[in-house]
Amino acid sequence: MATIIDGNALAAAVRERAAVGARSLRDRGLTPCLAVVLVGDDPGSASYVRMKERDCAAVGIESRDHRLPAETTQAELEALVDALNADVAVHGILVQMPLPAHLDPEAIIERISPAKDVDGFHPESLGRLVRGLPGFRACTPAGVMEMLRAYDIDPTGMRAVVVGRSTIVGKPMALLLLEANATVTVCHSRTRDLPGVCRQADLLVAAIGRPKMIDASYVKPGAVVIDVGINRTEEGMVGDVDFASVQPVASAITPVPGGVGPMTRAMLMVNTIAAAEAACC
Ligand code: GUN
Repeated sequence: MATIIDGNALAAAVRERAAVGARSLRDRGLTPCLAVVLVGDDPGSASYVRMKERDCAAVGIESRDHRLPAETTQAELEALVDALNADVAVHGILVQMPLPAHLDPEAIIERISPAKDVDGFHPESLGRLVRGLPGFRACTPAGVMEMLRAYDIDPTGMRAVVVGRSTIVGKPMALLLLEANATVTVCHSRTRDLPGVCRQADLLVAAIGRPKMIDASYVKPGAVVIDVGINRTEEGMVGDVDFASVQPVASAITPVPGGVGPMTRAMLMVNTIAAAEAACC
């Protein structure tokens, strides 16, 4: 039976670390500040943004809330990003995704100053990751690496399989695991014999966006299984992994909810403190 990796407890510890950083910054006269931009009124996004702002309050980060109507133009949003880039009191900028369909997310992500890119989505941040240079790492894969460290799971020499090739999760996850000396395979919708490839994994990361797709038939006995999925279904929030089926087979597994999700938010706090530190004395 797999150990359940407790994302809530770990996230609380990471937030506490960030809070220590925030206190130290305030002692030096700088209040760390995250600008949170939400365009439109998607209830899911609004709820994420509320949780991020609550985390900021708990950690001692000032959050500045920018709610824009769904009909905001590209030029208006770019003007806001420019203003936040220029504001020395703002250390991190988060534009909640997805944006309404008429807006170009790539142009907005590129517009954010790399020094304030606490999401780690900017091409410069991703390029630094590829090159192995210090920089902001995307919060979800960074949170997964933190979970592995906390549970003494060293990817060195492991065969890691990442299912999903998104720029936000799959690609940076693969690069971080590679940096941690795993042998990494990235799978996607066109992968042939996906269950067979997954069954080779010592470490399986599911970031697909399909409720409970990964069942025991995809999992090698004793594998570590990380579930990045957040799917809202009639039975509530479920991951990409069929937890009940996989838990008896795996050696460690993250639950949904209470796994990767809270860690993603905690890493945003860590990145914001790092951005403020870099701006400080
Ligand atoms: N939408 C879903 N997850 C995220 C995230 O981590 N950052 C941003 N900006 N938008 C998201």
